[in-house]
Amino acid sequence: MKPYRPPSDLHPVREKFAAARKELSAALIEREDEVDLVLTALVANEHVLLVGPPGCGKSLLLDSLLSWTGGSKFSILFTKYTTPEEVVGPVSLGALKADKYVRVTIGKLPEADFAFLDEVYKASSAILNVMLKLLNERVYDAGDGVIRAVPLKLCVAASNEWASPDTGKELAALSDRFLLRKSVSPIRSQAGRQKLLWTRDHAPKLSTTVSPSEVEEARRHALSLPWSGEAREALEVILKELAKEGVQPGDRRQFKTVGVVQAFAYLCGADEVLPEHLEVAQHCLWDSPEEQPQKAAQVIARVANPVGMRVTQLLLEVEQVLAAADVRNLADAAKAAAKLAEIDKQLSTLKGNGRVEKARLYLKEQLRKLKLASIEAV
Ligand SMILES: Nc1ncnc2c1ncn2[C@@H]1O[C@H](COP(=O)(O)OP(=O)(O)OP(=O)(O)O)[C@@H](O)[C@H]1O
Ligand SMILES: [Mg+2]
Repeated sequence: MKPYRPPSDLHPVREKFAAARKELSAALIEREDEVDLVLTALVANEHVLLVGPPGCGKSLLLDSLLSWTGGSKFSILFTKYTTPEEVVGPVSLGALKADKYVRVTIGKLPEADFAFLDEVYKASSAILNVMLKLLNERVYDAGDGVIRAVPLKLCVAASNEWASPDTGKELAALSDRFLLRKSVSPIRSQAGRQKLLWTRDHAPKLSTTVSPSEVEEARRHALSLPWSGEAREALEVILKELAKEGVQPGDRRQFKTVGVVQAFAYLCGADEVLPEHLEVAQHCLWDSPEEQPQKAAQVIARVANPVGMRVTQLLLEVEQVLAAADVRNLADAAKAAAKLAEIDKQLSTLKGNGRVEKARLYLKEQLRKLKLASIEAV
């Protein structure tokens, strides 16, 4: 067994990531997975897309992430009227006089270390064409024929819905530029809803900031983490099993997933990549958003058995038990309490990773409330 290392032993940049992870998750309700996703994306230098209904905290999370990072930033809310000038800058009038066509990119996407593209699927065809290359190859030609590398480390994007398959190749290509993609659901738990309603300010309070060079340091550190034999094998089995289910993400996606899993292992404070870190691959290893993300999640949960995914599943069961329980009926309440105790037993067998402890505390509180409510009802 490896000796336990206290958090103070961690690398200082890693500690910053651990603090941001904790602080973002504490403020944003039921967004642990999304927080992990965006921080993993930041470490891996891969782009991330969140899709969900209006008002479910996407902008709050993505804005908070960008407020944590230093460096130059670019944010835009796309409408169908957004022009390329707003994304890559206006054409230089001075250069035009000299018969040259060059864009002034100051403060725009080609000069950003970090970018937030809201309602990204609303971008026009002309804008998509520019963005596709910039996001993928991370280069931009301002019009003078010189292809320059852009500093972009991370682009985060949000949308209310997935692009439908018949909206054309450009949007499909744009979707593919985001290696990490996730549907965001509204708050599920009663306790979460209460926190949403009765907390006036949901904005996370972040005690640190991270610079582009620190992000680069994190990326290098993550890439140096070795893969355990079990994790390698698990990834290969997952890909085979997914193929059997008709889910075959492209080669680039598969290859890049390796780096993403290393980034998640880094975020978790691990010294090597273990099967449980494959949890994050559920957001990479699929192509079409209809039922493939669920298939990917199921296969990964079955093969790699990650703690985080089991906690999420058990918490869902808790909500189902609570929603179905009639506290005025003593027998019913006792049955619900017994089911919750059984779920707690299952949680207690999971290796602690912060989330297990949090889930058990939550469960304990729900059990207490359930008992209290049923006593009051009689
Ligand atoms: N999970 C959550 N945790 C904390 N606050 C939340 C959460 N979901 C929504 N809110 C509250 O609702 C507000 C609106 O959320 P936000 O603007 O981030 O939604 P959005 O998903 O970006 O919506 P849209 O798709 O319309 O842009 C937040 O500023 C916050 O106060
Ligand atoms: Mg928003």
